[in-house]
Amino acid sequence: MKLILLGAPGAGKGTQAEVISQHLNIPTISTGNIIREALKSGTEMGMKAKEYMDSGKLVPDDVVIGIIKDRLAQDDCSNGFILDGFPRTIPQAEALDRMGIVIDKVIDIEVADETIARRVSGRRVCPACGASYHVDYKRPAVEGVCDKCGDTLVQRKDDHPDTVRERLHVYHEQTEPLKSYYAAQGKLTIVEGQEEVADTTRLTLAAVEA
Ligand code: AP5
Repeated sequence: MKLILLGAPGAGKGTQAEVISQHLNIPTISTGNIIREALKSGTEMGMKAKEYMDSGKLVPDDVVIGIIKDRLAQDDCSNGFILDGFPRTIPQAEALDRMGIVIDKVIDIEVADETIARRVSGRRVCPACGASYHVDYKRPAVEGVCDKCGDTLVQRKDDHPDTVRERLHVYHEQTEPLKSYYAAQGKLTIVEGQEEVADTTRLTLAAVEA
């Protein structure tokens, strides 16, 4: 299955992508994670993306489209994949269509802006392995320490309140129009994001199986 997860920053795309990936045994492709990895390795692309990402803006389309083209050409994508964070603009969606990729389903996780702000401010991530936690909803066994690799958890730079406001603004302006784009293709399912992760997961998996 070839699946796109849409939704505002912090709506829970990454959380749900992890569950679907295990359920269907297909990889998750997160452009945000790929860019953060490139940044950590100090590559030219990573350095170019840094100022956009840190200020809550979108990285230019040509950079992200190039990343996706390379990633989708890898062997592990042959049985399907989950796109988390791509496309984020109409030109990115059109580029995907031009690559000849036929998407089966688009699931949009809807969460109100006020809830997003609360969720994202409580997120903590592991800088070493990328695992994601939350101070209320998904606590590690030992506070501030990654369950998976033992590194110290940090807050993402773009999870600070001012940057989150900008990310939400960019989302409504540039990414939300994708809902109409995929609804017109008959591929869109909307899932109302719930307070409990397990409740959102139940609804998301039902949408995948429908
Ligand atoms: P990216 O990393 O993709 O960030 P994002 O879309 O803003 O998404 P997040 O990772 O913030 O949130 P999420 O929806 O995955 O939520 P999560 O599951 O973690 O992109 C970052 C930046 O990279 C962009 O701003 C841009 O600069 C650049 N970029 C990336 N892709 C690009 C593209 N295609 N084009 C241009 N630029 C691009 O959940 C959030 C928190 O809430 C977690 O702590 C989680 O535990 C908690 N939570 C989740 N679900 C629930 C629930 N139901 N109840 C309570 N808590 C929950």
